[in-house]
Amino acid sequence: MTHASLNTRFAQHFALTTPLALAPMALATGGALAAACAQAGALGLVGGGYGDLAWTQREYTLATELLKSDAAAHARLGCGFITWKLDENAQALDWVLTQKPCAVMLSFGDPRPYAARIAAAGAQLICQVQRLDQVPQALEAGAAVIVAQGGEAGGHGANALEGRSTFTLVPEIADYLAAHAPHTLLLAAGGVADGRGLAAALMLGADGALVGSRLWATQESLAATGAKTLATHTSGDGTARSAVFDILRRKNWPAPYDFRAIRNALHRQFEGHIAALQASPDAARAEYDAGVKAGDFTRAHATVGEAVGLIADIPPAAALIARITHQAQALLAP
Ligand SMILES: Cc1cc2nc3c(=O)[nH]c(=O)nc-3n(C[C@H](O)[C@H](O)[C@H](O)COP(=O)(O)O)c2cc1C
Repeated sequence: MTHASLNTRFAQHFALTTPLALAPMALATGGALAAACAQAGALGLVGGGYGDLAWTQREYTLATELLKSDAAAHARLGCGFITWKLDENAQALDWVLTQKPCAVMLSFGDPRPYAARIAAAGAQLICQVQRLDQVPQALEAGAAVIVAQGGEAGGHGANALEGRSTFTLVPEIADYLAAHAPHTLLLAAGGVADGRGLAAALMLGADGALVGSRLWATQESLAATGAKTLATHTSGDGTARSAVFDILRRKNWPAPYDFRAIRNALHRQFEGHIAALQASPDAARAEYDAGVKAGDFTRAHATVGEAVGLIADIPPAAALIARITHQAQALLAP
């Protein structure tokens, strides 16, 4: 039973028992994590990421399989994609739409070319934005939900020149939506890792929160065990946002996006020399590749945001969702 203070418009819209969404984290949010979150009453978005068809089919099918005897949880299953990658190949989106997801989340690019087919499949469109000036485009695409992502977030987001912080972006977009699109729902993303963060998001005018980093550090997440363990003893001071790992990973991200992860030794070596790294990346890529192969996170990336300082254990996702929910309830209780 949803506590009144958490029975928000977002919870009602998707028949959730807590106003939380699992972020569709590329390669980390597989079917087991999405299914566990949906069963725990949150929105479960599989991390379709860069749009790899085989990966998306495997993980989405796993989630469907895990939820086959729980229709209520299955109705909370969706998928997310990196929009600019869909512009190159949208096969994975088209396949997911045949599976009747409740929602599709698009981030990092223009959602409008995909809006009609998502709507035709009966899925709700969720658009993640990093700036107020991206909101009109998301509304034009017919977004049912806007996710306001602050620069604290793990993974990709807007860079230091263009990015915003969750604490100011959320209320500003809440005011904008109240004036221009009052039926459009709003989630806060970036830094929400416990009940304080969820309660704060609601106080700032959001209808819920999208959680990435904190759910990345759960048992069901597909992130490497060594990366999760490292996260449990890294403080919030220990991450940085830059282009370093995108260059090392040969990911051709367009402006204005860059990437927040743990600021390890290899990152520190190149963070002051981005142009030189871009010009001749081969030796650094060899170091990085060797680090990934060896599971050595002084060289390989561990993708978490500033919320890493609030991660002290690696629980099952359902236990974590219950913990966040109960803490928020207690804080919001009259
Ligand atoms: C490991 C990881 C991978 C991510 N991958 C994606 C992605 O593929 N697509 C996307 O829209 N957002 C991605 N994100 C960002 C999340 O959608 C979300 O904005 C972010 O996790 C929220 O901030 P938090 O990490 O502080 O919870 C990723 C985040 C993390 C931590």
